[in-house]
Amino acid sequence: MANYLTLALSKGRIYKETLPLLKAAGIEPIDDPETSRKLILETTQPDVRLIIVRASDVPTYVEYGGADMGIAGKDVLLEHPKAELYEPVDLEIAQCKLMTAGRENDTARAGRLKVATKFVESTRRFYAEQGTQVDIIKLYGSMELAPLVGLADRIVDVVDTGNTLRANGLVPMEHIADISSRLVVNKASMKMKHARIQQFIDDIRIAIKAQ
Ligand code: ATP
Ligand code: PRP
Repeated sequence: MANYLTLALSKGRIYKETLPLLKAAGIEPIDDPETSRKLILETTQPDVRLIIVRASDVPTYVEYGGADMGIAGKDVLLEHPKAELYEPVDLEIAQCKLMTAGRENDTARAGRLKVATKFVESTRRFYAEQGTQVDIIKLYGSMELAPLVGLADRIVDVVDTGNTLRANGLVPMEHIADISSRLVVNKASMKMKHARIQQFIDDIRIAIKAQ
């Protein structure tokens, strides 16, 4: 980590929505990760660099010090309930809801409900709190397919416009959590680089308010 401030984030939605906030905080990447194959991006602030990782890997990089800070969806953070991280800022970007969904007019069936999801931990917790026993089937994407081909009765996924569910004949059912992206900070970095990180946090908070 040296004297750099390293920020881990994922390509796509989070990168695109974080960029204006970083810019307002005076940080602009030199390369574009969508076109460059580089995974470490220098920025206009010589002591700040970005690393590009999978969205679900951000908490791991930050917890173990591969990055001082990261930006991750709350859905991803909820899958790492024991991660030793600070979560000081809600960036209010990439907003959606974690929900259960299923086929319209789906009637209750005998036996345990089968639930397909990549959010195993949130799903387990949600149904446990309801006192409902379910079988959870872990998938890595395209959850909407599962009820259509008889793999599962329900899915748990993030929903924004609802277009993906609708396009596949599914309806949103129960609300599990409101989701947005959060700034997470490594605990040792917060101590060792406190002034620099606090300044970054203050700049980002101002950028969020201004948006
Ligand atoms: P991975 O590449 O590890 O599978 P991913 O495909 O879920 O991750 P993205 O689709 O870029 O990564 O989503 C990043 C984050 O954006 C999610 O963790 C979630 O918090 C949020 N998100 C996902 N889908 C939507 C959506 N349709 N609208 C708004 N926010 C969303
Ligand atoms: C996400 C998520 C849902 C969809 C929900 O997929 O997995 O399928 O968004 O959004 P909606 O309610 O507005 O349709 P995304 O578009 O990120 O593609 P992905 O499967 O590559 O993550």
